[in-house]
Amino acid sequence: MPGLITMDDLTDEEIISILDDAERLLPVARGELYLPLLKGRILGNLFFEPSTRTRMSFETAMKRLGGDVVNLGDVKSSSVVKGETLFDMIQMVDGYTDIIAMRHPRQGAAQYACDSAKVPILNGGDGAGHHPTQTMLDLFTIRRAHGKLEGLNVVLAGDLRYGRTVHSLSHALTRLGCNVTFASPESLRMPEEIVSDLKDNGAEVVETDDLFGQINTADVIYMTRIQKERFPDEDEYAKVAGAYKLHAKDLDVAKPDMIIMHPLPRVDEIHPSVDSTRHACYFEQAFNGVVARMALMCRLLGVEVPADVEKAGGII
Ligand code: NCD
Repeated sequence: MPGLITMDDLTDEEIISILDDAERLLPVARGELYLPLLKGRILGNLFFEPSTRTRMSFETAMKRLGGDVVNLGDVKSSSVVKGETLFDMIQMVDGYTDIIAMRHPRQGAAQYACDSAKVPILNGGDGAGHHPTQTMLDLFTIRRAHGKLEGLNVVLAGDLRYGRTVHSLSHALTRLGCNVTFASPESLRMPEEIVSDLKDNGAEVVETDDLFGQINTADVIYMTRIQKERFPDEDEYAKVAGAYKLHAKDLDVAKPDMIIMHPLPRVDEIHPSVDSTRHACYFEQAFNGVVARMALMCRLLGVEVPADVEKAGGII
Protein backbone atom coordinates (compact mmCIF):
# COMPACT_ATOMS: atom_id res chain seq x y z
CA MET A 1 0.00 0.00 0.00
CA PRO A 2 1.40 3.44 -0.78
CA GLY A 3 2.39 5.44 2.25
CA LEU A 4 4.57 8.43 3.04
CA ILE A 5 7.97 7.22 4.21
CA THR A 6 10.34 9.76 2.63
CA MET A 7 9.73 12.85 0.52
CA ASP A 8 10.59 10.74 -2.53
CA ASP A 9 7.10 9.26 -2.18
CA LEU A 10 5.61 12.55 -3.38
CA THR A 11 6.18 14.35 -6.68
CA ASP A 12 6.73 18.11 -6.66
CA GLU A 13 3.21 18.55 -8.09
CA GLU A 14 1.72 16.38 -5.33
CA ILE A 15 3.56 18.38 -2.66
CA ILE A 16 2.17 21.66 -4.00
CA SER A 17 -1.34 20.29 -4.38
CA ILE A 18 -1.33 18.90 -0.80
CA LEU A 19 -0.14 22.32 0.45
CA ASP A 20 -3.06 23.90 -1.45
CA ASP A 21 -5.49 21.44 0.17
CA ALA A 22 -4.00 22.28 3.57
CA GLU A 23 -4.51 25.98 2.92
CA ARG A 24 -8.22 25.43 2.26
CA LEU A 25 -8.56 23.30 5.41
CA LEU A 26 -7.35 26.07 7.74
CA PRO A 27 -10.85 27.04 9.01
CA VAL A 28 -11.53 23.35 9.76
CA ALA A 29 -8.25 23.03 11.68
CA ARG A 30 -9.10 26.15 13.65
CA GLY A 31 -12.47 24.68 14.62
CA GLU A 32 -14.41 27.39 12.75
CA LEU A 33 -16.02 25.03 10.26
CA TYR A 34 -17.26 21.44 10.50
CA LEU A 35 -16.23 19.27 7.57
CA PRO A 36 -16.34 15.53 8.36
CA LEU A 37 -14.40 14.37 5.29
CA LEU A 38 -12.96 11.39 7.20
CA LYS A 39 -16.09 10.36 9.09
CA GLY A 40 -16.01 6.64 9.84
CA ARG A 41 -12.24 6.38 9.33
CA ILE A 42 -9.86 5.33 12.09
CA LEU A 43 -6.26 6.46 12.50
CA GLY A 44 -3.89 4.17 14.40
CA ASN A 45 -1.22 6.12 16.27
CA LEU A 46 1.78 3.84 16.81
CA PHE A 47 4.43 5.87 18.61
CA PHE A 48 7.34 3.79 19.91
CA GLU A 49 9.27 6.96 20.79
CA PRO A 50 8.21 10.06 22.73
CA SER A 51 6.05 12.52 20.81
CA THR A 52 3.85 15.46 21.71
CA ARG A 53 3.20 17.54 18.58
CA THR A 54 3.26 14.82 15.93
CA ARG A 55 0.97 12.44 17.82
CA MET A 56 -1.41 15.13 19.06
CA SER A 57 -1.65 16.96 15.74
CA PHE A 58 -2.39 13.70 13.90
CA GLU A 59 -5.09 13.02 16.45
CA THR A 60 -6.51 16.55 16.22
CA ALA A 61 -6.44 16.40 12.42
CA MET A 62 -8.39 13.13 12.32
CA LYS A 63 -10.94 14.29 14.89
CA ARG A 64 -11.49 17.69 13.25
CA LEU A 65 -12.30 15.78 10.03
CA GLY A 66 -14.88 13.65 11.84
CA GLY A 67 -12.75 10.50 12.16
CA ASP A 68 -11.50 8.61 15.17
CA VAL A 69 -8.17 7.55 16.61
CA VAL A 70 -6.80 4.52 18.45
CA ASN A 71 -3.47 4.90 20.23
CA LEU A 72 -0.83 2.34 21.08
CA GLY A 73 -0.34 4.41 24.22
CA ASP A 74 2.64 3.86 26.44
CA VAL A 75 4.93 1.28 24.81
CA LYS A 76 5.72 -0.10 28.27
CA SER A 77 2.09 -1.10 28.76
CA SER A 78 1.75 -2.67 25.28
CA SER A 79 2.61 -6.19 24.11
CA VAL A 80 6.01 -4.90 22.95
CA VAL A 81 7.26 -5.71 26.46
CA LYS A 82 6.12 -9.32 25.94
CA GLY A 83 8.31 -9.48 22.86
CA GLU A 84 5.76 -8.76 20.14
CA THR A 85 7.50 -7.92 16.87
CA LEU A 86 6.81 -4.84 14.76
CA PHE A 87 5.70 -7.14 11.95
CA ASP A 88 3.01 -8.80 14.10
CA MET A 89 1.86 -5.50 15.51
CA ILE A 90 1.39 -4.03 12.04
CA GLN A 91 -0.59 -7.09 10.86
CA MET A 92 -2.96 -6.58 13.74
CA VAL A 93 -3.32 -2.78 13.71
CA ASP A 94 -3.89 -3.04 9.96
CA GLY A 95 -7.16 -4.77 10.74
CA TYR A 96 -8.23 -2.21 13.34
CA THR A 97 -7.56 0.97 11.37
CA ASP A 98 -7.73 2.68 7.97
CA ILE A 99 -4.41 4.55 8.19
CA ILE A 100 -1.41 4.41 10.54
CA ALA A 101 0.93 7.14 11.81
CA MET A 102 4.08 5.59 13.15
CA ARG A 103 7.23 6.72 14.97
CA HIS A 104 10.01 4.29 15.74
CA PRO A 105 13.59 4.60 17.05
CA ARG A 106 14.99 2.41 14.25
CA GLN A 107 15.84 3.96 10.89
CA GLY A 108 14.00 2.09 8.16
CA ALA A 109 11.23 0.82 10.47
CA ALA A 110 8.52 2.82 8.70
CA GLN A 111 9.48 1.38 5.31
CA TYR A 112 9.51 -2.10 6.84
CA ALA A 113 6.01 -1.55 8.24
CA CYS A 114 4.78 -0.10 4.96
CA ASP A 115 6.05 -3.10 3.00
CA SER A 116 3.75 -5.46 4.88
CA ALA A 117 0.78 -3.18 5.64
CA LYS A 118 -2.50 -3.05 3.78
CA VAL A 119 -3.36 0.44 5.05
CA PRO A 120 -1.23 3.54 4.31
CA ILE A 121 1.62 4.23 6.73
CA LEU A 122 2.68 7.79 7.50
CA ASN A 123 6.23 7.97 8.81
CA GLY A 124 6.20 10.20 11.89
CA GLY A 125 9.96 9.79 12.33
CA ASP A 126 12.21 6.72 12.01
CA GLY A 127 15.31 7.09 14.16
CA ALA A 128 17.72 9.54 12.56
CA GLY A 129 16.12 8.78 9.17
CA HIS A 130 13.19 10.83 7.88
CA HIS A 131 10.19 12.84 9.06
CA PRO A 132 8.19 13.70 5.92
CA THR A 133 4.93 14.80 7.57
CA GLN A 134 6.97 17.39 9.49
CA THR A 135 8.42 18.52 6.16
CA MET A 136 4.94 19.11 4.78
CA LEU A 137 4.04 21.38 7.69
CA ASP A 138 7.42 23.11 7.43
CA LEU A 139 6.88 23.82 3.72
CA PHE A 140 3.36 25.00 4.47
CA THR A 141 4.69 27.41 7.13
CA ILE A 142 7.40 28.81 4.85
CA ARG A 143 5.01 29.27 1.93
CA ARG A 144 2.44 31.02 4.11
CA ALA A 145 5.04 33.40 5.53
CA HIS A 146 6.75 34.26 2.24
CA GLY A 147 4.01 33.52 -0.30
CA LYS A 148 6.41 31.27 -2.25
CA LEU A 149 9.20 28.74 -1.87
CA GLU A 150 11.35 29.29 -4.94
CA GLY A 151 14.43 31.47 -4.50
CA LEU A 152 14.28 31.70 -0.70
CA ASN A 153 17.46 31.46 1.37
CA VAL A 154 16.87 28.79 3.98
CA VAL A 155 19.42 28.06 6.69
CA LEU A 156 19.13 24.69 8.42
CA ALA A 157 21.01 24.90 11.71
CA GLY A 158 22.09 22.69 14.58
CA ASP A 159 22.16 18.92 14.63
CA LEU A 160 22.07 18.07 10.94
CA ARG A 161 23.64 14.69 11.53
CA TYR A 162 20.98 13.05 13.68
CA GLY A 163 18.05 15.43 13.06
CA ARG A 164 15.54 13.63 10.87
CA THR A 165 13.42 16.74 10.25
CA VAL A 166 16.26 18.40 8.34
CA HIS A 167 17.03 15.24 6.39
CA SER A 168 13.56 15.22 4.86
CA LEU A 169 13.28 18.99 4.63
CA SER A 170 16.58 19.52 2.77
CA HIS A 171 15.41 17.18 -0.01
CA ALA A 172 12.10 18.98 -0.43
CA LEU A 173 13.54 22.50 -0.24
CA THR A 174 16.15 21.90 -2.91
CA ARG A 175 13.60 20.20 -5.18
CA LEU A 176 11.30 23.20 -4.85
CA GLY A 177 13.98 25.75 -5.73
CA CYS A 178 15.17 27.09 -2.35
CA ASN A 179 18.83 27.97 -1.71
CA VAL A 180 19.89 25.87 1.23
CA THR A 181 22.70 26.53 3.71
CA PHE A 182 23.67 23.93 6.29
CA ALA A 183 25.02 25.51 9.48
CA SER A 184 26.32 23.05 12.07
CA PRO A 185 29.28 22.23 14.27
CA GLU A 186 31.77 20.08 12.34
CA SER A 187 30.81 16.87 14.16
CA LEU A 188 27.09 17.37 13.41
CA ARG A 189 27.32 18.03 9.67
CA MET A 190 24.65 16.79 7.29
CA PRO A 191 25.44 13.15 6.38
CA GLU A 192 27.65 12.95 3.31
CA GLU A 193 25.23 10.69 1.43
CA ILE A 194 22.48 13.32 1.75
CA VAL A 195 24.77 16.16 0.64
CA SER A 196 25.98 14.21 -2.38
CA ASP A 197 22.46 13.12 -3.24
CA LEU A 198 21.31 16.74 -3.24
CA LYS A 199 24.28 17.80 -5.35
CA ASP A 200 23.71 14.94 -7.81
CA ASN A 201 20.21 16.30 -8.27
CA GLY A 202 21.60 19.69 -9.23
CA ALA A 203 21.23 21.52 -5.90
CA GLU A 204 23.84 23.99 -4.72
CA VAL A 205 24.29 23.56 -1.00
CA VAL A 206 26.57 25.62 1.20
CA GLU A 207 28.02 24.14 4.39
CA THR A 208 29.33 26.30 7.22
CA ASP A 209 29.84 26.31 10.98
CA ASP A 210 29.04 30.04 11.17
CA LEU A 211 25.33 30.34 11.89
CA PHE A 212 25.51 33.97 12.98
CA GLY A 213 27.10 35.05 9.68
CA GLN A 214 23.96 33.81 7.84
CA ILE A 215 21.39 35.87 9.73
CA ASN A 216 21.43 38.98 7.50
CA THR A 217 20.77 37.13 4.23
CA ALA A 218 18.38 34.43 5.46
CA ASP A 219 14.66 34.32 4.69
CA VAL A 220 14.23 31.34 7.01
CA ILE A 221 16.40 30.05 9.86
CA TYR A 222 15.37 26.54 10.85
CA MET A 223 16.83 25.72 14.26
CA THR A 224 17.06 22.16 15.59
CA ARG A 225 17.67 20.47 18.91
CA ILE A 226 20.86 18.49 19.44
CA GLN A 227 19.45 14.94 19.39
CA LYS A 228 20.87 13.80 22.71
CA GLU A 229 19.14 10.41 22.57
CA ARG A 230 20.96 9.45 19.35
CA PHE A 231 24.51 10.09 20.56
CA PRO A 232 26.56 6.95 21.15
CA ASP A 233 27.95 8.43 24.38
CA GLU A 234 27.33 11.30 26.80
CA ASP A 235 30.81 12.84 26.35
CA GLU A 236 30.26 13.34 22.64
CA TYR A 237 26.97 15.06 23.41
CA ALA A 238 28.58 17.27 26.06
CA LYS A 239 31.09 18.56 23.49
CA VAL A 240 28.35 20.02 21.26
CA ALA A 241 25.50 20.72 23.69
CA GLY A 242 24.52 24.38 23.51
CA ALA A 243 26.56 24.92 20.31
CA TYR A 244 24.12 27.50 18.89
CA LYS A 245 21.90 29.75 20.93
CA LEU A 246 19.85 32.45 19.25
CA HIS A 247 18.95 35.54 21.29
CA ALA A 248 16.69 38.41 20.22
CA LYS A 249 19.71 40.73 19.95
CA ASP A 250 21.30 38.45 17.32
CA LEU A 251 18.36 39.26 15.04
CA ASP A 252 18.99 43.01 14.71
CA VAL A 253 20.66 42.39 11.34
CA ALA A 254 17.88 40.12 10.02
CA LYS A 255 15.58 40.99 7.11
CA PRO A 256 12.22 42.21 8.49
CA ASP A 257 10.31 39.21 7.15
CA MET A 258 12.88 36.55 8.09
CA ILE A 259 11.22 33.74 10.06
CA ILE A 260 12.72 31.50 12.72
CA MET A 261 11.38 27.97 12.73
CA HIS A 262 11.98 24.98 14.98
CA PRO A 263 10.25 21.57 14.89
CA LEU A 264 10.23 21.68 18.72
CA PRO A 265 10.87 20.72 21.43
CA ARG A 266 13.52 23.38 21.94
CA VAL A 267 16.08 22.94 24.69
CA ASP A 268 18.20 26.09 24.70
CA GLU A 269 18.72 26.81 20.98
CA ILE A 270 16.19 29.65 20.96
CA HIS A 271 16.21 31.99 23.93
CA PRO A 272 12.71 33.01 25.13
CA SER A 273 13.61 36.64 24.24
CA VAL A 274 13.11 35.61 20.57
CA ASP A 275 9.47 34.63 21.23
CA SER A 276 8.21 38.20 21.23
CA THR A 277 10.10 39.25 18.06
CA ARG A 278 8.37 39.45 14.65
CA HIS A 279 10.61 36.59 13.51
CA ALA A 280 9.35 33.85 15.85
CA CYS A 281 7.26 31.37 13.85
CA TYR A 282 7.66 28.07 15.71
CA PHE A 283 4.33 27.98 17.54
CA GLU A 284 2.42 28.79 14.37
CA GLN A 285 4.52 26.09 12.70
CA ALA A 286 3.38 23.58 15.35
CA PHE A 287 -0.27 24.53 14.72
CA ASN A 288 0.26 23.99 10.99
CA GLY A 289 0.91 20.34 11.78
CA VAL A 290 -2.85 19.92 12.01
CA VAL A 291 -3.71 21.21 8.52
CA ALA A 292 -0.74 19.53 6.87
CA ARG A 293 -1.69 16.17 8.40
CA MET A 294 -5.36 16.65 7.53
CA ALA A 295 -4.43 17.20 3.90
CA LEU A 296 -2.03 14.24 3.90
CA MET A 297 -4.55 11.82 5.41
CA CYS A 298 -7.21 12.90 2.90
CA ARG A 299 -4.74 12.35 0.07
CA LEU A 300 -3.64 8.92 1.24
CA LEU A 301 -7.22 7.81 1.86
CA GLY A 302 -8.29 9.01 -1.59
CA VAL A 303 -10.66 11.65 -0.21
CA GLU A 304 -10.85 14.86 -2.19
CA VAL A 305 -10.71 18.18 -0.34
CA PRO A 306 -13.52 20.30 -1.83
CA ALA A 307 -12.49 23.40 -3.78
CA ASP A 308 -14.98 25.46 -1.79
CA VAL A 309 -14.55 24.29 1.77
CA GLU A 310 -16.81 27.05 3.18
CA LYS A 311 -19.69 25.87 0.99
CA ALA A 312 -19.13 22.17 1.76
CA GLY A 313 -18.69 22.65 5.51
CA GLY A 314 -21.22 23.30 8.23
CA ILE A 315 -21.50 25.19 11.44
CA ILE A 316 -19.88 23.53 14.46
C1 NCD B 1 11.20 16.39 16.04
C2 NCD B 1 11.44 14.89 15.93
O1 NCD B 1 10.81 14.10 16.65
O2 NCD B 1 12.23 14.53 15.07
N1 NCD B 1 10.06 16.72 16.76
C3 NCD B 1 8.86 16.83 16.10
O3 NCD B 1 8.38 15.89 15.51
N2 NCD B 1 8.24 18.02 16.09
C4 NCD B 1 12.40 17.14 16.47
C5 NCD B 1 13.10 16.76 17.73
O4 NCD B 1 12.72 15.84 18.46
O5 NCD B 1 14.09 17.43 18.02
